Amino acid sequence: MSGSHEPLVFSGMQPTGNLHLGNYLGAIRNWLKLQQQYRCVYCVVDMHAITVDHDPKALAQATREVTAAYIASGIDPKTSIIFNQSQVAAHAELAWIFNCVARVGWLNRMTQFKEKAGKNREAMSVGLYTYPVLMAADILAYRATHVPVGDDQKQHVELARDIAQKFNNDFGVPDFFPAPEPIITGPATRVMSLRDGTAKMSKSDPSDNSRINLTDDADTIAQKFKRAKTDPHPLPEAEEELAARPEADNLISIYAAFAEKAKQAVLDEFKGAQFSTFKGALSELVVAKLSPIASEMRRLLADPAEIDRILRDGAEKARATAAPVMAEVRRVVGFVS
Ligand code: TRP
Repeated sequence: MSGSHEPLVFSGMQPTGNLHLGNYLGAIRNWLKLQQQYRCVYCVVDMHAITVDHDPKALAQATREVTAAYIASGIDPKTSIIFNQSQVAAHAELAWIFNCVARVGWLNRMTQFKEKAGKNREAMSVGLYTYPVLMAADILAYRATHVPVGDDQKQHVELARDIAQKFNNDFGVPDFFPAPEPIITGPATRVMSLRDGTAKMSKSDPSDNSRINLTDDADTIAQKFKRAKTDPHPLPEAEEELAARPEADNLISIYAAFAEKAKQAVLDEFKGAQFSTFKGALSELVVAKLSPIASEMRRLLADPAEIDRILRDGAEKARATAAPVMAEVRRVVGFVS
């Protein structure tokens, strides 16, 4: 179905404080590579952020921080469109129309809602429930064909495909929306906690030692890796042996991702080494890669007006890209204009 549509990449990240290594390796770094090959639209999804309780001041600050992280990592606002979701009304408008296309049964199957709501379903916002529909609108307002996401968002991209297909069928417009494809790549798309190799690295983990923040200085990074949980064995020879050693697997994956090598190639270099030796090399590598990003982020954040200007500029381009799609959507649905 997406065959006849021009390739376009769309992705988004929620504005949260404490951006960490998982956000960088799992998302931003892959986006950077796609930028060389495709037209890309990268969004700071502030409307998704208000589906749970939030502090307005912190939201604005986090929106600027995520924008700074995109740019500091090398996403170029001249090449790619960078903007915050709430500045482009098409997202909310298309989300409403998609709310009327998606079925309650489809949303009831979304595992992330179930996880986030837990036993408190009834007390959650309606927005949290319909969150994946807004995500479908994000993607399809631009007729995006490729969506780089983490593992946990794959089901949401599949829902976007279902919504696209049902819209096309229901309104008799066979090729109107493409079927967007999730792109899940890289050796460290799932960066795990430094304290528990079976839990995802997360900004909400109470222990700051569980994650490397993008703005951590060299000493902090070295300390956190030094304290990172490991097992008592030296590093194995073969990648398969990592399967039963989640902490070792995580550290090797992080190294492999930054060194742009396969995990086996990293093991070839470090097999038989003690963790203390490997952790030293890992800290050095991570510091070398992250410190230029951290200092560029600090420079950008010192001038919030400039960040806001970049976002307004990006929003203008985003509106222009979505406008023809939305004009057709309104006509197809039967809205008089
Ligand atoms: N839900 C995504 C996440 O939490 C963020 C997101 C919102 C997104 N809209 C999107 C990702 C559209 C890809 C495409 O990671």
